Amino acid sequence: MNHQKYCSTSNMEVINVDQKFSLFSDHWSPKIIAQLNGQDVKLAKLKGSFVWHSHENEDELFMVIKGKLAIAFRDKTIHLNPGELIVIPKGVEHKPIAEEEVLIMLFEPSAIKHTGNVQHEITVDRFDFI
Ligand code: NI
Repeated sequence: MNHQKYCSTSNMEVINVDQKFSLFSDHWSPKIIAQLNGQDVKLAKLKGSFVWHSHENEDELFMVIKGKLAIAFRDKTIHLNPGELIVIPKGVEHKPIAEEEVLIMLFEPSAIKHTGNVQHEITVDRFDFI
């Protein structure tokens, strides 16, 4: 068996998260920085309030890199500090709120729409790979 075929390192690269954040400044417009197993790793800058929405088929991971993020649910609001993450289960309505700018990492299936079941003027249909 040709072991090399299954263990190539040619597509591996070190991705520097801070450097990737320096490449964009728009808010609520996630950028893909890596893909694996049908999932995207995305970075986003948030400021202000997002729209209430849910994702019918996808769980969604938010990890805060910088700033403080509030996420409102219908029955409570949670607060995330840098280095903290949460997984929002499919079907759960949520609304991210960033009083000051927040930098986050997202981990979610590539097919997801960030505004979920809601089509809004801020909905991005295609995510840029940076
Ligand atoms: Ni969402």
